[in-house]
Amino acid sequence: MKIEIVLHLSSRVGRACLITTALLVAGNQASTAQLPDEFTNLKVLPEDIDQRTLINYMRTFSIGLGVRCSTCHVGEEGQDLSEYDFASDDKEMKETTRVMMRMVQAINGDHLTEVENRDESNEVTCATCHRGVSTPRMLPDVLAQVYTEEGIDATVSQYREMRDRYYGSYSYDFGEGNLNELANTVSNSSLDDAMAILQLNDEFFPNSAGIHYLMGEVLLAKDDRDGALAKFRRAVEIWPQHRNAQRRIQELEG
Ligand code: HEC
Ligand code: HEC
Repeated sequence: MKIEIVLHLSSRVGRACLITTALLVAGNQASTAQLPDEFTNLKVLPEDIDQRTLINYMRTFSIGLGVRCSTCHVGEEGQDLSEYDFASDDKEMKETTRVMMRMVQAINGDHLTEVENRDESNEVTCATCHRGVSTPRMLPDVLAQVYTEEGIDATVSQYREMRDRYYGSYSYDFGEGNLNELANTVSNSSLDDAMAILQLNDEFFPNSAGIHYLMGEVLLAKDDRDGALAKFRRAVEIWPQHRNAQRRIQELEG
């Protein structure tokens, strides 16, 4: 059973081996000399695993979740790794990680193996779901939760903060679709809040026909026909084939 995990978690690890071992201790300034080479508390990985392979796993965990060794292990940032108590199970994240390791094993070993014409090089890893963050969630879900709990101002700030921090990484999708989607959902409870979200989106995508069209719909729902017409016209100016905006213009002019 334990050997199987090595097989099913291993394809990424194999590729990571090209990188020198010193670098493998992700982010933590350390060489493997500082690390134990005998392990006393392995419950998922095989007990006789060699140091290099174990550290490769630890590196895929750290990078996959965007965290440091100290997130899961007892030790302080800046402290020498030789002073860490890696065998301790005191940190909850370490126990959760064991659950995740077994889950990944089940996905790759029990379920994906049932896929016909399976591409065996394509396996689920921590990063498949986590994409560099410890709590894997899609951007609209994060924002919708902030909106429900804290309102529109907090939602707008949250988006700005996340964009500053994660834009260009693979953690969240900052394409225009997500905020349009959110504005759509929010419009059920508040047209003003939906407009605030579209204005935020417009800041980053000023030449989007879709955003102008949606702004037009919000203004129309608020009975601001002139304002709506201006937005629909702008949408068509940007993208002449925008059918829905064209139809709205005809309705409003006719
Ligand atoms: C996301 C959580 C997580 C991160 C981050 C992490 N580890 Fe681990 N580590 C674990 C888990 C879980 C085990 C136990 C695996 C098992 O039970 O088979 C473990 C086991 C170990 C062990 C073996 C301890 C023993 O004696 O049993 C060492 C050494 C270790 N990790 C080093 C590191 C280093 C160095 C880093 C930073 C590069 C790191 N880990 C990052 C979760 C993590
Ligand atoms: C199929 C998707 C998926 C994969 C693959 C996956 N995880 Fe997770 N992970 C989740 C989800 C969803 C949660 C949030 C669970 C919750 O809400 O408590 C989570 C939570 C966690 C947490 C707790 C985070 C926290 O902030 O409390 C850790 C640690 C973790 N995962 C580690 C890993 C590691 C290490 C791997 C690779 C061995 C992995 N996960 C693979 C989906 C996944």
